[in-house]
Amino acid sequence: MTTPWYHKTSIYQIYPRSFYDSNGDGIGDIKGILQKMDYIQALGFETIWCSPFFSSPQADFGYDISDYADIAPEYGTMDDALQLIEEVHTRGMRIVFDMVMNHTSDQHRWFKESRSSRDNPKADWYIWRDSPRPVGEGVGVRAKPNNWNSMTGGNGWHYAEERDQYFWSSFLPFQPDLNYRNPEAKKAMFDTVRFCLEKGVDGFRLDIFNVIYKDAEFRDNPFAFKLAPTEDDPSGFFQEAKYTLNQPESFEFARELRSVAEEFGEKMLLGEVSGDRHIIRKFLGDEVNNGLGLVFDFAMLDFKFTAEYFRELIGEMERHYPDPFMPVYVFSNHDKHRSIFRLGDDLRKSKLLHLLQMTVRGVPCMYYGEEIGMADLKQPFGSALDPLPHKYKRIPRFVFDLLGLFANRDEVRTPMQWDGTKNAGFSSAKKTWLPVHENHASINVENGDKDKDSLLNVVRTLGKIRIEEAALREGSLELMEGLPSGVLGYVRKLGGEKVVVLLNFDKLAKEVPIEYSGCIFKLSSGDEAKEKAIRLNGLGGMIVKM
Ligand code: GLC
Repeated sequence: MTTPWYHKTSIYQIYPRSFYDSNGDGIGDIKGILQKMDYIQALGFETIWCSPFFSSPQADFGYDISDYADIAPEYGTMDDALQLIEEVHTRGMRIVFDMVMNHTSDQHRWFKESRSSRDNPKADWYIWRDSPRPVGEGVGVRAKPNNWNSMTGGNGWHYAEERDQYFWSSFLPFQPDLNYRNPEAKKAMFDTVRFCLEKGVDGFRLDIFNVIYKDAEFRDNPFAFKLAPTEDDPSGFFQEAKYTLNQPESFEFARELRSVAEEFGEKMLLGEVSGDRHIIRKFLGDEVNNGLGLVFDFAMLDFKFTAEYFRELIGEMERHYPDPFMPVYVFSNHDKHRSIFRLGDDLRKSKLLHLLQMTVRGVPCMYYGEEIGMADLKQPFGSALDPLPHKYKRIPRFVFDLLGLFANRDEVRTPMQWDGTKNAGFSSAKKTWLPVHENHASINVENGDKDKDSLLNVVRTLGKIRIEEAALREGSLELMEGLPSGVLGYVRKLGGEKVVVLLNFDKLAKEVPIEYSGCIFKLSSGDEAKEKAIRLNGLGGMIVKM
């Protein structure tokens, strides 16, 4: 079987609101993305994933969709979206949309109708339950249909007077979950998927796909001695998410969605899921690749910058996602810390991380701004635009920092830093929707352009190399043994081609004895290709041919 395109590609994630503002209203837009296409293409990433720009009250900045067939006016029009798809394709690249299937906005006409009475045609399109006793008689959660917590903490059932019933929201109260046990609701969403595919998109990133189905019997979730959810174990808030997450029907649904997508050819389906690797792997299919084409494995968002950590991680990825599956390597996104946060703001470490991400066996997925080393912008919860921190307003910020929890997503969604001028060249508006990071005076694209050794230029070179070297895109991977401490190495093989990648996580220089035939890439000027050995500078790295 040939490797599908989406297993060989690389993904650049754009958060449209913060990428480039073409009309001076302080908000990024689709025309802005179009104007920056040369920049994006020169990065060497082949697929663009855009966070949602569909019609939305923007209560969760587009992850609350009120009309899947239209574009939010601040981002542009459907014609702009079509032009973006066309432009991307003209350049030989691909584009995937962000499909929020689990829930709609409470302002979607489907929900408004569903909420209006118990017997309207869409009454069963969302998840509605009676209270076990008349409202007001129970204490706290006991009046709610069951004990289920939402993913953001607290009971996820919300009362609607019109029906004297509760509806279920996996995320925030204004994001009611669709009921996929209702055939009409399911068909309507599959038709939405078809609608986008007809417009020519190359697939989807699938929002919180692991909660698509909930337990049919609405059984209470068991107690768990765990306060905060983690990437590898989403149970938290003292509850095991046994009946609200990763249900068997969701794995089946992945296969069904795959067949809908394939009505239009080979399409990327990239699931945002979380949980134990053994479980999330099931979203990809049975023994064959017949479910989602790719899943995020978010445990790596909490990476440690050591050779041992990455050796272990790569080993795990190889065990869990062997051919015909493919892992995704992702170190940041619009919900989590920027990667430089874990690298002590050290751009040299960031270069090494990119070297790994672009050469390891897997699909690299990079969030906009990572290519210049954009950093989190710490802001008080109280003034956040992100609805999430408002939920935790009463808890002091230091508690979150102490527990290593991240809540204010505004901090990683600040405008792209194009240059050192006011608004970082992102917008001509008086005020941008989120403040620009003050480090834009030095951390920006213009500066990156000027310096041939900048992180930006390293990312660009690696992008090109990845496109040229088929072994890096589709070759097998073997971890090398017996390397000096702090050094990680792997061999990528395809047919007769053998490419070796060496990465030195240590600050001290290291020498690796190796027979090689030519050097493809050196990360730092101190990296040296010697006769029958390679000397790696501290935090250096190399790609060589064998
Ligand atoms: C996903 C998105 C996040 C959004 C949530 C609810 O986790 O990445 O931004 O708030 O789902 O749709």
